[in-house]
Amino acid sequence: MGVSILSMVVLCVIQVASAQKLTDANEAAALKKIIEYWKLGSSLDLTVDPCAQNASWASDASNPRIACDCSSNVCHIAHLKIYALDISGQIPNELFELKELVDLNLAQNVLTGPIPAQFEQLSKMQYLSLGTNNLTGQVPLELGNMTKLLSLSFSSNNLDGPLPAELGKLTSLEQLYIDSSGVSGPIPQDLANLKSLKKLWASDNLFTGKFPEFLGTLTELVDLRFEGTSLEGPIPDSFGALTKLDTLRIGDLGGEDSSLDFLRNQTSLSVLSLRSCQLSGQIPDIIGTFSKLIYLDLSFNKLEGPIPDSFQGFTQLQYLFLGSNNLTGAPPANIVSQSLAALDVSFNPLSGNLPANVDKSEFSMNFVGTSINADNLEDRKALEMLRCLEAGTKCVNKVKSTSFSINCGGTEQTSATGVRYNDDSEPLEAASVYTNSNRQWGVSDGGYFISNPNGPQYIAKTDSQITGTLESELYKTARVSPSSLRYFGLGLKNGKYSVELHFAEIKMEDDLQSWKGLSRRIFDVYIQGERVLQDLNIRNEAGGSNRALVKTFDANVTNTVLDIHFRWAGKGTCCIPSQSTYGPLVSAIHASQVAGAAVTSSHQDKKRVGRIVGIAFGCTATLVIVSSVFYLWWMKDASTGHMRVHTGSRKRSK
Ligand SMILES: *[C@@H]1O[C@H](CO)[C@@H](O)[C@H](O)[C@H]1NC(C)=O
Ligand SMILES: *[C@@H]1O[C@H](CO)[C@@H](O)[C@H](O)[C@H]1NC(C)=O
Ligand SMILES: *[C@@H]1O[C@H](CO)[C@@H](O)[C@H](O)[C@H]1NC(C)=O
Ligand SMILES: *[C@@H]1O[C@H](CO)[C@@H](O)[C@H](O)[C@H]1NC(C)=O
Ligand SMILES: *[C@@H]1O[C@H](CO)[C@@H](O)[C@H](O)[C@H]1NC(C)=O
Ligand SMILES: *[C@@H]1O[C@H](CO)[C@@H](O)[C@H](O)[C@H]1NC(C)=O
Repeated sequence: MGVSILSMVVLCVIQVASAQKLTDANEAAALKKIIEYWKLGSSLDLTVDPCAQNASWASDASNPRIACDCSSNVCHIAHLKIYALDISGQIPNELFELKELVDLNLAQNVLTGPIPAQFEQLSKMQYLSLGTNNLTGQVPLELGNMTKLLSLSFSSNNLDGPLPAELGKLTSLEQLYIDSSGVSGPIPQDLANLKSLKKLWASDNLFTGKFPEFLGTLTELVDLRFEGTSLEGPIPDSFGALTKLDTLRIGDLGGEDSSLDFLRNQTSLSVLSLRSCQLSGQIPDIIGTFSKLIYLDLSFNKLEGPIPDSFQGFTQLQYLFLGSNNLTGAPPANIVSQSLAALDVSFNPLSGNLPANVDKSEFSMNFVGTSINADNLEDRKALEMLRCLEAGTKCVNKVKSTSFSINCGGTEQTSATGVRYNDDSEPLEAASVYTNSNRQWGVSDGGYFISNPNGPQYIAKTDSQITGTLESELYKTARVSPSSLRYFGLGLKNGKYSVELHFAEIKMEDDLQSWKGLSRRIFDVYIQGERVLQDLNIRNEAGGSNRALVKTFDANVTNTVLDIHFRWAGKGTCCIPSQSTYGPLVSAIHASQVAGAAVTSSHQDKKRVGRIVGIAFGCTATLVIVSSVFYLWWMKDASTGHMRVHTGSRKRSK
């Protein structure tokens, strides 16, 4: 006691001498304990007053950062940032002694335990970020008392229970980030009071009930994200009032169909993604007038009618995904604008001719599973092999094989058991389709990692050894996709097949001491249109990162094609350990006919297939197949600088 009074006197003398005010003693003592508890002593010198004006940790860019408000006769700690430093343990009680905190950023650490109710004591708080930690328990309703909050984040945690209705008291709140937080249940109606809200990121939570109508009254909203929840449609018509939206991402809705009629005046939209929302009806012309659109994804819906002619008017649009709908007619002739980088119209009953300008540079297009006339393509045969994937169509493929094996994203590998996994190292783009040289299989993808600053990466690689397998090399590469990745075995004899899917998590770490280990990759797998895996988490099932996981399924081939579809349904974390780390990942595929199994198609089917196959064979015979690869996207020819369609055929066959 005596010593501390003496030292305070000494400090006061120094303070007067340097005209520097000191930190409130209670806060300074609390901070010291916090720093010791979180083992930050090496970055923060506890012998220096925390609010010293020239302290190395006071600048905006410092991390950890402590910055103070010295406007009264003592200094109060107003800003505390301990970001991505892997501090562990709980949120200590001493934190709530820092009563004047305005801005607290504890994001990207491995904090455990609950979000303490005492946060309500920090009544001046404006910015609170607890995102990307390992916090558990329910969201305390006391957070609703922090009425000065402008921004609140508890994204990417392991919380449970509902969102408290009390959050509706945060009427100043402009940003609420709760994606992947673990909260569940209905979305409280009280959130209708958050009239200042501009950003709401709520994807990947187990929300239930109807998609809330009231969201349409939060007219300041600029960025709204609700993908991968258990909410039910329809998307409320009240959304017509959200005219300030720049980003709208809704996905994976059950329940009733939605229409796009709510899109009337959202002329500020730059990103519109409504994947898998049970959208029905036609695509409204008005979307073509949203002149700021850069990214438009309406795939995996039930949209009918034509692609609107107004889509020829986009000047900024780079990515257009319309795959897996029921769109008809011909694509508008001038849909491929100067800005367009990828067009996916796959799996629609579209017809007519290819649009103009598909041969421009840095453009990719996927129109597999349509009836678009591609006569002017060098290698339309391979495309036609996939055309039969439309429901109800008979395949005209030459039946020749009973197995296929693919080293997804990698080069040819022969396994210890003698299985030769084909090369699949062609770089796919945002909308592409590719078949291997002997056309035993093909791969189709559609999707773009919107927020990946380093550009799209559709192949994942690691140098790490893969455990739990004798075939480590097979797993060191994988294909990944932001939305849909679909492999097709082609020209298969009908019958029963065994399908082996090989996985290993090679992008998400499993370090329990780091925030980088807090990621979750979750996706679904469909075989022959049936969902065989829902919410697959490779790392969890394999027992760690870089560990092999093999899943085996039976499948019936009745139409010469085996369809293996990997799909992202909006779940899992988005951005751990880096932006755009999510979506399906597959390392290798091996499918082979089960010997002696009964053929599943009827006698009549067999005859019909046989006949059509005969015709197909006749056509195929006129083709000189020398190709190593076939791929339908367009690149700049390195040698000539000309744009040309790459089909992989080294020789023309006309
Ligand atoms: C901060 O300034 C004081 C005098 O104003 C000086 O004694 C001290 O060494 C400085 N500290 C740092 C870290 O620059
Ligand atoms: C916090 O809010 C609850 C109701 O949500 C109320 O009962 C309580 O008194 C409030 N606490 C403070 C400190 O204002
Ligand atoms: C679009 O917004 C304008 C004002 O910004 C309004 O006058 C008009 O009625 C709106 N149109 C529709 C179809 O909602
Ligand atoms: C697709 O649209 C046609 C009408 O153009 C309709 O007959 C058919 O049922 C639709 N298919 C699906 C799967 O909705
Ligand atoms: C997060 O906490 C859970 C227990 O709640 C634990 O099993 C898991 O290993 C922790 N994750 C990390 C990355 O520390
Ligand atoms: C394959 O067909 C057989 C006989 O028609 C049927 O019993 C079996 O359930 C089918 N398997 C799958 C995976 O669809």
